[in-house]
Formats: sequence, structure tokens, C-alpha cells
Amino acid sequence: MATAAEIGIPANLPKAAPFLIQQDYAAYTEDQHAVWTELVARRMPQIEQHAAQEYLDGFAYLHLPQDRLPHLATLSAKLQPRTGWNTTAVSGFMPGPAFFEMLAARRFPTTTWLRGRDSMEYTPEPDIFHDVFGHVPMHAHPVFADFLAHYGQVCAAIDDETILERLGRVFWYTVEFGLIRQDGRNKVYGSGLISSNGECSNVIHGGCEVRSFDLEEVLRTPVKVDEMHHLLFAIESFDQIYEAMHTLESRIRAGSRLAA
Ligand SMILES: [Fe+2]
Repeated sequence: MATAAEIGIPANLPKAAPFLIQQDYAAYTEDQHAVWTELVARRMPQIEQHAAQEYLDGFAYLHLPQDRLPHLATLSAKLQPRTGWNTTAVSGFMPGPAFFEMLAARRFPTTTWLRGRDSMEYTPEPDIFHDVFGHVPMHAHPVFADFLAHYGQVCAAIDDETILERLGRVFWYTVEFGLIRQDGRNKVYGSGLISSNGECSNVIHGGCEVRSFDLEEVLRTPVKVDEMHHLLFAIESFDQIYEAMHTLESRIRAGSRLAA
């Protein structure tokens, strides 16, 4: 495996450096490309109807490939001039400080492995389909892009576990499972909804209450990773979460521990 220096990793990622790898694109098999193609094909009918316009715009801007696995470097070359974001290959799960350091530097930690045919519906660990199909198109949206980088900056400066857990709730109910009100309907933009038939169907078919995004309520709502959601939150615009992060930053600076 190439070292960080060989890959050309900038010096501003000391905590993340041990996790950075190169995407070995040539190692993907034809069957893996076929799995990617099938995963995309299974998601597109719901995406076209229920995804936020900003997600669809990002998808189109990136020309996200539908019949081959994506080259991360190609995506980054499209994203960087637009929002400064980079889709950066990592070896897998990263501890918080390394993860936040990357977000603050506008580098999205992206896994390169792909699920097998035995887990088309669900993988406990994120794979490249979740990370790229689910997350990356939103990085082309300037306000969301700024929000996500600011989230990383704020979290990178905190070592209080209680505050970080509360900020984790904000990430969960926006980046991972966020919705937005558009055209009088709830549209999905969170990667967990974008990339999963089951989670998205649960929301579309009324299995989950969707309330207006309220920062205090989000901070009070614990994350449950082992069941379908019963409660999620819809923003009115991406300005709302951009401003919420600035509110949180001010409160943390003032000594708040962010909700009981
Ligand atoms: Fe995710």
C-alpha cells in the first residue's frame, strides 16, 4: 500500500494520514461493476421521484457513472473547482478526530470496497455505494458544501464527548438522514435515505413521522442505528442547517453543553 507521502497527501491531515489510501480502480472485477450498475438501477426510480433537487443537480453535474464504479479522482476533479471538495479514499472506519480533520479540509473520507450480492439492501459498514452515490452529489451544492466543512471545523476543535455526541445527532439527522420540503413534499437528501430502498420506502410510505427541522429537538433526539426510523426532520432550505452550525458554534464558545 502506498504511503501518504507517495499519494501526495497534504500536510494538513496529520490525524487522517494513516487512513488514506489510493483507490485501486483496476482491481475492481467486471462482476463488481455489474453490482454497482444493479445498485444504481434499483435506486433510480425512487431517486428521480423523491430526491431533493440539489441532490439531482449534483448527480447530473458529476456525471455520476451508472454502469461502472466511479473513479474518485475524476469526481474530485469535477468537485474541486466548484466547491473545493475532494472525494478521498480511506481504508475504512476512522476515529472522530481524523474524520473531522478531513471534513474541515473539504476531503470526504470515502471507502473503496463494494458490497457483495448477498447484501444488496444493507451493509452495516458504509461502502463505496453509500459514500459516493449517497453522499458525494450533495458536495456539489455550495451551501451544503460550506455547512459540511464548517461542521468538521467545529467538531475538530472539541474534545468533550457529550458535546460531540450532540453534534453527532445533527450530522445524523442532516447529512445521513435529512429531508427537505420542496414543492409541498418531503424530499430526501441524507445519504442513508438516498442509498437505501428500505429506509427511503419507510419514509415515503408513512412509516416515519417527519417534523420540521428544529435544532433543539434534533439535539434532544438520540440516534438509533439498529431500527428503521420513527422520526426524522425536514429543513426548508440548506441555509437553515448552515445557520444552525453557526448557532451551535456560538453556543459552544459560550460554554453550552447543547441540551440535557
Ligand atoms: Fe454516510
